[in-house]
Order: sequence, then structure tokens, then C-alpha cells
Amino acid sequence: MALNLDAVGKKIGPFTKDYTWKDAVLYALGVGAGFSDLEYCYEKDLKVIPSFGITTIYDFMAEVATTSNVNLAGILHGEQELIFHNPIPPEGAMITEGAIKHYYDKGKDKGALIVGEFETSHSNGQKLFTSIVTVFARLDGGFGGENAPAKEVAFPDRDPDFVVDASPSADQPLIYRLSGDVFQLHVDQEFAEMAGFEKPIMHGLCTHGYACRSLIQTFIPGEPEKARRMDCRFKRPLYPGMPVRIVIWKTDEGRAVWKVINTETKEVVIDNGVFEYGDIPKTEIRFDGRVAIVTGAGAGLGRTYALELAKRGAKVVVNDLGGARDGSGDGSQAPADKVVDEIKALGGEAVANYDNVATVDGGANIVKTALDAFGTVDILINNAGILRDKSFLKMEPENWAGVLDVHLNGAYNVSRPAFAVMKEKGYGRILMTTSAAGLYGNFGQTNYTAAKMGLVGLMNTLKLEGRKYSINVNTIAPVAASRLTEDILPPDFLDKLKPELVTPMALYLVSEVCTASGNIYNAGLGCFNRVAMVTGPGAVVGDGQSVPAPEQLVAEWEKITSLQGAREYQDVTEQIGDLLAAFSKPAAASTGETAGFGSATDVFDAMPAAFVADAASGVDVVFQYIISGEGGGDWHSVIKDQTCRVTSGSHAKPNCTLKMDAADFLDMMNGKLPAMQAYTSGKLKIEGDIMKSQLIEKVFKWNR
Ligand code: NAI
Repeated sequence: MALNLDAVGKKIGPFTKDYTWKDAVLYALGVGAGFSDLEYCYEKDLKVIPSFGITTIYDFMAEVATTSNVNLAGILHGEQELIFHNPIPPEGAMITEGAIKHYYDKGKDKGALIVGEFETSHSNGQKLFTSIVTVFARLDGGFGGENAPAKEVAFPDRDPDFVVDASPSADQPLIYRLSGDVFQLHVDQEFAEMAGFEKPIMHGLCTHGYACRSLIQTFIPGEPEKARRMDCRFKRPLYPGMPVRIVIWKTDEGRAVWKVINTETKEVVIDNGVFEYGDIPKTEIRFDGRVAIVTGAGAGLGRTYALELAKRGAKVVVNDLGGARDGSGDGSQAPADKVVDEIKALGGEAVANYDNVATVDGGANIVKTALDAFGTVDILINNAGILRDKSFLKMEPENWAGVLDVHLNGAYNVSRPAFAVMKEKGYGRILMTTSAAGLYGNFGQTNYTAAKMGLVGLMNTLKLEGRKYSINVNTIAPVAASRLTEDILPPDFLDKLKPELVTPMALYLVSEVCTASGNIYNAGLGCFNRVAMVTGPGAVVGDGQSVPAPEQLVAEWEKITSLQGAREYQDVTEQIGDLLAAFSKPAAASTGETAGFGSATDVFDAMPAAFVADAASGVDVVFQYIISGEGGGDWHSVIKDQTCRVTSGSHAKPNCTLKMDAADFLDMMNGKLPAMQAYTSGKLKIEGDIMKSQLIEKVFKWNR
């Protein structure tokens, strides 16, 4: 029976697990807690071991197995990652749902890997943890799929910094199984022998619970709520009663790597362990489960972005061609490899890519690297860059084109395939890298500044195309000491310009919490500000029909140049709306007449009289008006059989709903605010059948 590869992405769950404090204590006893860590065992001020969350896994695993058509005789729990978002309360319900993310093929007779990911929330609405489970299907390999990316944790070449010895009792599985995993392998002699073991074996997740307790005891004693992430690979079975040793290396502040060893046989039972912890505020920006591509990440700014993203949970594709500062040379794999090693040494996940962003194939391959290694792309930072400075007349075509190719075409080449993935999944963050030189100008850099402003143009439209799919696109203008700036900026200044001082802005802009899109931010030296393109109100010269003479512009020059009252547009429609408005002379304003309507109620009272029955032949429509603010309310008009009925309140099935603030509505109805301008400026919102709204002008003639 072949694996059902079509099950990838299929929703699994939700499963609800009701629990009381007794379940939490039973789990704690099952993983060896006792008087030494009474906070897990005594209902007074009870704290729940974060790995208790794993007891939600059994329904999910069963569904993963059946949906996948896996051969049940060969399944083992391969790897387990838990990302903790909030402490588990002592009682309530845990609600879990997720999906199968990948099938990997290790080859015929070598098995397959099934990766599932699920989220668990508490009945109080809080997100508790994300769980990524890898099932090893020993008997299902050889289906012709891709092998899983290597995922090895780098262990320091020194004795462990901490060692915790534990002695699970010979009866431990009998307690542990009461938390949900009642598989016979852990209790039934006959079954265990059939499966090839001498006797029932320990649950891998029971040993996992011992490790969790030990890690908390080592780094955050008494404060399990500070555990952030725990990841590991189950390597060998363990018989009950065998003593174990948890060996731990601290690799960074708030991060450790660990293994569990069978103290008697010295065999590694659990490998590739990572534990993250810390006193981190709730508003912490995390990238757990996110996949990020950083181009040009082998050095300078890109390296710091990649490291920080990985530290905060992202899986990172470290792209770097490894060429010279001007882009020449054959390139080198060393810069990207080095950064990947740095990330792994910190317990993070990363893969290297050495493609050239300046080619279409290079861009496609960078995105493919992310898909192959991690299955998706959530974040793209277009950062790769070179310089070929020359004054304009010395700027030969190859130096002009070379710089545009890396910066501007490079961003196009990588963003396009990444955008396709993001559009499909309905989420994405893209960051362009411009430069103060581009924004404000810099002698000798026409090629670079043109490319850097080209990136702003790319962002301006991509933000619009991405909006519907929650793809935000922003631009950073960094200043930092790097290979690019070492001979441009004054040496004293360079010491102060650490790339790390730029990183917070890049990370914020590619995070889930950042809702901005289409903005440009300067970042350097720890100073951050926004840059915007603004447009002054200008002057209307002439009547829009006859062509004004240049001399007329001279007369109005002060007004045309002034930025007083300037505004920022979100797109060209907004700007054209203002342009059109400049020529539409509002009747009341131009004639000096006093406004006709004093309130929204006046408007709807007058509506039947304004209705032109002859113009409404064949019209069958219901308009709903929702007028907010002082004097507002809901009204609807039903137009049918050349009649118009206006009623206050909501209609059950309007064709078209118009929403507006009462003051704006009165301005519009009194001729001070053209309807087109109201719409393009967002003051008038139209929902439902937008085309029907155009009938309003046709069937009403207002006599203000
Ligand atoms: P850097 O030279 O330290 O890093 C750029 C990286 O991009 C290098 O490792 C390089 O090998 C890689 N790269 C170059 N061409 C590539 C290609 N075709 N494909 C893949 N990788 C390639 O420079 P830095 O300062 O970190 O610059 C990063 C970005 O920030 C660039 O886009 C740069 O223009 C921009 N920037 C930097 C400023 C600064 O003050 N450092 C100021 C304004 C903008």
C-alpha cells in the first residue's frame, strides 16, 4: 500500500483534550517528577511541565498515520520540536489542529519521513505551543520522493557543561502510559517480542519529559514558563529501569544543545537536542516555523539579519555568491558556509546557497533551495549588493548594467518566484534594500543610486499586488560598516556603525507583527526614521481645457513648489483622485450658497423626492447606507418597479452597502466633496455590488 502523497496540506483536527490538574500531575509523575520538583506535583500553585503538551499528540499522530496510508508495523516517532508560546494552565482544554507538511523518501528499505505540524490553543483562547512531529515510516521508503534535508545540530567539541543523571523506574511506562500513549509495545511482553524487543520499552516521549525537567532544572529552576523551544531526535529504544544521563552544552545566552545517553551502554538514546529559554517579554518577535531567504547573507548586514532571524526561530537560506566587492571573480562558497555554521553552532537551522541573484535561474534556484530544504518561503530579504563607483561620464555600460543587475534585477529575480509561493500560501514579507545614496544622491554612484531607487518603485507596485495575499513589502535604507563602506565612510565613524544596529529594523519589517507595507525606513547607529515621497497641493493653472502658458506657471511658482500641506499617496488612483478634485468645482463652495442638508436624516427624508422614476426603468436594487459618527444611523432604499422606498434601519439583503462618516456624507451631499474623491480617498467605502452604486447618480436628482 503506497503512501498517500496527496495528503500534504490536508487539515487534521481539531482535537480537543480536556484535562484537570490531576492529568498534569499524572504526566509529571510519569516523567519522574516528585518531591524534588513539587511544583509539578502539588495542586497548590501547580506549574505544568511544558512537555505535557505532547500528550495532545496521540490523536494527531494516529490521523497522520491513517491519512498517509502508512504501514503501521513500521512507524516510529522520529523527531519532535515544541515551540512554547504560553505556559499551559493547570486545567481546561487543549485544542489541536494542523496538517501534514512533507513526505520525504530516504530510499527503498530505508524508510520515509512524514512531517506534521500542529498548533495547540487553550480553551481560554491563548496559543500554547506549536508542535512539529516527524514520523519515521520504516517500511514506506522508495516512493521516488526527495530525501529530507540534513538537520544536524553542531555539538561543541568539549565536555558537557552540565550533566543530569536520572533513573526511571522499571515500572515507569506503566505510569507514563496513563497520560495517553497506551501502545502495547510499552506494556505487553508478547507484543514487544513480536516487534523484536526483549521486553516492553520506554516511551521515547517519557525520556523526553525527563530531559525537559532536567533542562528546566539546569537553566530556569522553578520557572518552566520560561522554556521557549525544545527540539530533538529519538535515536534508540531504552528499556525501563536503565539509568540515563542528560548531557548539556550551553551554546549561547538562552540556548543549549543536549543529548540523552544510556548510562550503562553509553548509547545515545535522544540526539540533536536543542533547548531555548529565557525571560522574554510576551511581545517578543519570533519567527518559529517561518522560512527566510536572505540574499548576500555571507557578510555584512545580510549575515546579521540571517543570524538574528535564526536565533528567533526562523529556518534560513543563507545566499551568497562570495564574489569581490565589485561583483567580479569566480565567487566562493566560504562566506555562505561560514554563516550557516555559525547558525548551526547556535542550535539554529540554515542551508547555504551560492547562486547569483543577478540571473533569472539564480533567483529561481535560491527559492528552490528554500522549498527543498524547508518546504516554503515566508520571508525574503533582498540584500545582496556590489559597488562600481565612477563619475557619470566614466560610467561604462558594463559598470552601469552590472550594478543594476545585482541590485534591481537581482531583487526581481528572487522576489518573483518567492512571491508565487507567498501568494499561494496567503502570507509573505519582502524587504528591499535601498540606500541613502539612492534616496538623496551621492557623487559617483549614478548606477547604484538608479538601482536603489528602482527598488523603491518595485516595492510601490508589489505592495499593491501583494496586499490581497497578506504579502507586505517594505524597504530599508541601512548605514553600517561593511566591505561596501570601508573606504567610503570616515574610519572613526566605521567603529560605531555596527551592522547589528540596523538589524532590529530589518527583523521588525519582516515579522508578523509589522503591518506596514510600502514604506521606506532609514536605519543605522540605532537611529530609525521613515522616508516618504510626498506631494504638495500645488496650484491649478487654467481651467483644464485650454493649455496654460509657461509664464503662467512662473506666476504660480511659489505655490507649485511649496510642500506646505503635502500629502503621501498610497497609489496612483489616490493621486489622480486629487487631481480630478482640483478641477471639480463644488457647487456650494463655488457659488457661496449655504449647504442644503443639515443632517443625514434630512438627506434620507428628501431622498424619495429626489428619485427620478423615468430614469429607473428596469432598476431593481437595494442600497444600504451606514452613516457613522454624530447624527449617523442606518437607512436603506429599495428601488423597484420605478418606485423608491426609503426606510431607516438595516435591510437583510442589500445589493450594495455605502459606509461613510456623517460629516463627510453631508459634505458629499451638499456638493463640497465630489463622490469620486470621497471614494478614492477612502472616505466613502462601498461593499457588495460596486457597479450598482453608479445607478445612484442616474436615479436621483438632488435639488439642494
Ligand atoms: P557586504 O559587501 O558586506 O555584503 C554584501 C554581500 O552580497 C556580500 O557578501 C556579497 O558576496 C553578496 N553578493 C554580492 N553580489 C551578489 C550576487 N550577485 N549574488 C549573491 N550574493 C551577492 O555589504 P553590506 O554593506 O552588508 O550591504 C548589504 C546591502 O545593503 C547592499 O544591498 C548594500 O547596497 C546595502 N547598503 C549598505 C549600506 C552600508 O552602509 N553598508 C548603505 C546602504 C545600502
